[in-house]
Order: sequence, then structure tokens, then C-alpha cells
Amino acid sequence: MYAWKCVTWGDPRHLQLGRMPDPVCEAGQVEITVKACGVNFADLLLISGRYQLRPELPFIPGMEVAGWVTAVGPGVTVPRVGEHVAAYVKYGGYADKVVAPTAQVAVIPDSISSATAAAFPVSYGSAELALDRAHLSAGEVVVIGGAAGAVGSACIELAKQRGATVIACVGDDAKEQVARACGADEIVSSRSRALQQDLQAATADGVDVIIDPVGGSFFDESLRALRFGGRVVVLGFASGKIPSLRLNQLLIRQQSVIGASFGLTCIKDPARISDKWPELVAMLERGAIKPRISKTLPFTDLPRALNLLKERKLAGRAVLGG
Ligand SMILES: NC(=O)c1ccc[n+]([C@@H]2O[C@H](COP(=O)([O-])OP(=O)(O)OC[C@H]3O[C@@H](n4cnc5c(N)ncnc54)[C@H](OP(=O)(O)O)[C@@H]3O)[C@@H](O)[C@H]2O)c1
Repeated sequence: MYAWKCVTWGDPRHLQLGRMPDPVCEAGQVEITVKACGVNFADLLLISGRYQLRPELPFIPGMEVAGWVTAVGPGVTVPRVGEHVAAYVKYGGYADKVVAPTAQVAVIPDSISSATAAAFPVSYGSAELALDRAHLSAGEVVVIGGAAGAVGSACIELAKQRGATVIACVGDDAKEQVARACGADEIVSSRSRALQQDLQAATADGVDVIIDPVGGSFFDESLRALRFGGRVVVLGFASGKIPSLRLNQLLIRQQSVIGASFGLTCIKDPARISDKWPELVAMLERGAIKPRISKTLPFTDLPRALNLLKERKLAGRAVLGG
């Protein structure tokens, strides 16, 4: 099969398009013939060797796909061959075929395009996990960092579904439009030098929850606007800076900092992920959530798509194929 290969640690220009052996579909897995791939921030980390996972070289990157089930491994009854699906895979997605454990596969109605489906599993799976870990409930105020990004925009939509008030932190006007279209109630600028004051101006009593896929100064500044007893969910470090924290602040303000990893939850607690697919797919089908696709590019344009992501030029997900 054809696939994008990572043959050396580095940036997107080092990726090579070529032939690789077909994957083997084992017990509990399905084989998916890939129609479209979501381009993820973590792909950049993975190919640079800075991700929590370091596959042996050469390997095929790509963690989010949509397509058709073309084979099932021993013991698999659902999904069935011929079904349209979206899946999270650790890596291997930028290829004609990939295999995925069934818990990481959502059956998608044929009425939804593969491009839309490919922008769905990681963003909404991660967003749902983050909001669950925060116990976000109706009437609460949540600040979302990187809010026009793929995960951030999914967090806005799912937080609105829970009845929360959303303050979205974004970097420019185009991203503000995306955050507003997702349902954000208030916007603050991630480029502001006074993020803490901007957040305090947007909420009288401090925010209840912070969802942080950015880290760096966003974490430091937004934490100062967190109310007594508030919760922060750490999702990632798109800024490239991992913040640190003085624990006395948590003690005196009785706050909680909570980690959330979609990928590791898929391994440690797969039912927590798979139990959510039917509800999330139903929302997708009735248009209550709408994956934001900022660009659709041909499969051969992976390095370009990753560079656009790196340069912070995308709002929502870039998708290859579809
Ligand atoms: N824990 C999990 O389970 C999980 C799952 C998926 C993703 N993630 C992580 O979540 C993060 C976001 O992923 P994504 O797919 O949503 O990426 P994305 O679509 O590229 O969005 C990331 C957002 O972060 C902001 N950002 C990017 N570079 C930045 C920089 N240098 N300084 C400050 N802000 C920057 C940008 O917002 P503005 O330009 O608008 O400020 C951008 O829209 C990544 O770190 C990813 O690894 C974690």
C-alpha cells in the first residue's frame, strides 16, 4: 500500500511518500480502507520525536481517519465489513489502510462525508473526556484555550451542549469568527498582554473551569482568573511550554489541576471512550456538533498541511482526502 513514512526524526519536509506493507488485522481490531485523514498537532510532535510515544523508524504517522471497514479480526462482530467509520489510531493513518481496536472506532452514518468524519474522533473524543474530567455542568463558566483549534472548537460546542457559558481564547479575527460560530459567549485574545485582566473583566466571580490545550502563559494567566474551588484540565502544550505550579496556590484557593489524555484513556479505560461514541455520533448526525474543517487537501499535501498547522494558520482541522 501507499503511505507517508517517517524515516528520520524531524519536521514535515523529511516525510516520504512510498510503499509500505499492509497492516495485519489482529483479534479485536478492524481494517479500515482510508478515505480521509485528520491532520493533528500531535503528528508534529510524533514525527519530531518529542511525543510521549516513539515508534521504531520507519513508521507511518497519522492518528485520525475515516473510511470503510474492509476486514475484521478474530472475535469482532461490530463494526461490520462495509460500514462507514471514523477512528483514532496511535499512528499509521496516513496510508491506504490502517487497523484500529474496535473501542477506538465510531460507526458513522453514510450521510456524513468521510472528510467530516475524519475531523471527528480525536477532537470530540478528547473534548468530551476533558469536560467529563472537569465535571463541567450547566450554569458554570468555562475558559477554553486554543478555542478555534480542532480540540478547542469541539470543547466549545460540547460545553454549550452542557449548558455552560464559554469564554473562548483565540489568536486573531478569523479564529474569533470560528469560535463564535461554535457558540462562544465571550472572546478574549490569546495575543493580549493582559489575559488575566481580560478574563476577570469577562466574569464577575472568577471562572469555574479552564480547559487548557496550550500551556505556557495561557496556563499562568488563566489560572489567576480561576475561582476558589475551580478546576483546570491540562490537555496539551501547543505553545511548546510546559508550565509549572506552586502548590500553595492550589491549597489556599482549593483548586484542582486535572490531566486528560484521550490516547492513554483509549488504552487504560477503552470503555470510557467507546461508550461515548453513540451519543457523540447522534449529535453529529443531528447537526448539534459540526467539526470545523479549515482546509481539505489532497493526500500528497501532508507536509504542507502540517506546516500550516505549525504556523498557527488553521482554524479547526485540516483534512487530507475525503
Ligand atoms: N490530551 C489529549 O487527549 C489531547 C488530544 C488531542 C490534542 N491534544 C493537544 O491539544 C493541543 C491542541 O491540539 P489541536 O489538535 O486542537 O491543535 P490546533 O488545531 O493546532 O489548535 C491549537 C491552538 O493552540 C494555539 N497555539 C498554537 N501554537 C501556539 C503557540 N506557539 N503559542 C500559543 N498558542 C498556540 C492556537 O490558537 P491561537 O492561534 O488562536 O491562539 C491553535 O489554534 C495540542 O497540544 C495537542 O497535542 C491533547
